Amino acid sequence: MTLLQDLEARLATALATTIGEPTSAAVTPAADLRFGDYQTNAAMVLAKQRKTNPRALAQEIIGRLDLTGLAIAEIAGPGFINFRILPQAYASKVQTLLRDAKLGVPSIGEGKTVVVDFSAPNVAKPMHVGHIRSTIIGDSLCRIARFLGFKVIADNHIGDWGTQFGMIIHGWKNHLDEEALAADPINELVRVYRDVNAATKADPAVLETCKAELVKLQAGDAENLAIWHKCIELSKFGLEKIYDSLDVKFDHWLGESYYNDRLAGLVDEFLTKVIARESNGAVCIFSDGSKKQEDDPFMVHKENGWTDNPAIIRKADGGFLYATTDLATLQFRIDEWQADQIWYVVGVPQQLHFRQIFDAAARWGKTGDFQHVAFGSILGEDRKLMKTRSGDNVQLTDVLTEAVERAAAIIAEKSPDLHEGEAAVVARIVGIGAVKFAELSQNRLTDYVFAWDRMLALQGDTAPYLQYSTVRIRSIFRKLDAPFDATACEILLNEEPEIHLARLHARFGELLPVVLDDFRPNLLANYLLELARAFHSFFEACPVLKSEEPVRSSRLALCELTGRILTTGLGLLGIKCPERM
Ligand code: ARG
Repeated sequence: MTLLQDLEARLATALATTIGEPTSAAVTPAADLRFGDYQTNAAMVLAKQRKTNPRALAQEIIGRLDLTGLAIAEIAGPGFINFRILPQAYASKVQTLLRDAKLGVPSIGEGKTVVVDFSAPNVAKPMHVGHIRSTIIGDSLCRIARFLGFKVIADNHIGDWGTQFGMIIHGWKNHLDEEALAADPINELVRVYRDVNAATKADPAVLETCKAELVKLQAGDAENLAIWHKCIELSKFGLEKIYDSLDVKFDHWLGESYYNDRLAGLVDEFLTKVIARESNGAVCIFSDGSKKQEDDPFMVHKENGWTDNPAIIRKADGGFLYATTDLATLQFRIDEWQADQIWYVVGVPQQLHFRQIFDAAARWGKTGDFQHVAFGSILGEDRKLMKTRSGDNVQLTDVLTEAVERAAAIIAEKSPDLHEGEAAVVARIVGIGAVKFAELSQNRLTDYVFAWDRMLALQGDTAPYLQYSTVRIRSIFRKLDAPFDATACEILLNEEPEIHLARLHARFGELLPVVLDDFRPNLLANYLLELARAFHSFFEACPVLKSEEPVRSSRLALCELTGRILTTGLGLLGIKCPERM
């Protein structure tokens, strides 16, 4: 039980006796530590319902509250009840956490299956920095959900079927550079696609040839299917390398093509069930009129008022679309994987698409908790969409390479005594960590500016700062001449910095479930920064190795717990910690 849950339970008991019936109320962390650690507005809410004086009611509740060994309570303002946790309660919390592999984090996801749909780049197109957001946020959400006890299925729904293959196949047959393909498959495929795309603009005959290649592919032509297969394999191979360097893993790679043979049946089912109907030869899902127009994803407001905004699931020429595939995918995940929840980590521009999919799924009788975890853009330091000097999208691989190079330069300067092999390993951990943390410490919905110096600063709100903090803690333990068992010692909290550190330790288990409420890894990132800052203040004010027993052991235990929470928390963001740096 977290301290917050303990307070809520005791409050509920007091409320029940005050009101005369079972009553519960929420306790929240206090915004300002001067007033206490937690607070509740229960008295104000209940006084309003019962038309009594809130301060008097708060007084009565406090009179009935048994907070023995946990906290003291006082009334503030119009009737808030503030709680200040007793140092001894924090001390015993720390003792419990030291014995707990989960560091106080509850298993709120036990028995629930969640599919996380993230990364999902398109084949024969390079993965650009926009994909970095989906990959990094999605991976972190998977790690956090797993730690909270969910059964997590990470699925990379790559775009491996689409009109681009007409051009790629034509290019493959006529303009392929075998050597370049062997050296860097993703880039060679992109080059072919780009060149052919340009050629189709200059010459309509080329466009016709490409269309014919696409039709042949869709009809199952053996040669074109073989080329398509080869393209997918090569792309996957290139992607795997990027995921390896990011330490990102998937349980499945069921791309769009996996659902091809389910699409015709799906459209028929939608027609029979009258969820979709024909319109100008196409099959479309229209509004069912059950919602207010403002909330209806199949309605849009234009100059002349509200008009239909249908989702097409079969074109007049018989072709299927992105929405058709996504509906088939959703059904598969529910039926085959028994998914209770599906989280789609995809940029803001696809918001309408997902609103339509979720609405159609509900009308189709597919129940579950479906969430579009949207995110904004990455901007260059000029605050415009990030581009290379030639105006192209910046590629993910280039960003990662540069991150590691920059980290290596910093490490060579700050820690010249690390030998070459170790320095290279540390540079990878620090460089990749910096990119991930820059992403995850932002509110996902805001556009963020990609600034190298800021994300790599050793003193700042950065991964290197947090990694350095864990290294500093490790170095304390390296100085001991005997093994230290933190579970065996008594925790003594006498100084304010010690109490504050323990307060933050206790928060970890309360905070992590909240991260998933609205998919905000930045709450975890910011908590870790706060913890690291609290550690440095503690370390400056409270001597550890130089103090006398039993204080020395108690402080060592606080160091150990801080190190474990920092490392675990960074791990949940997908960030590793080096031994030294
Ligand atoms: N391939 C798509 C893109 O790059 C993203 C797919 C997201 N997942 C989904 N189920 N629609 O835009």
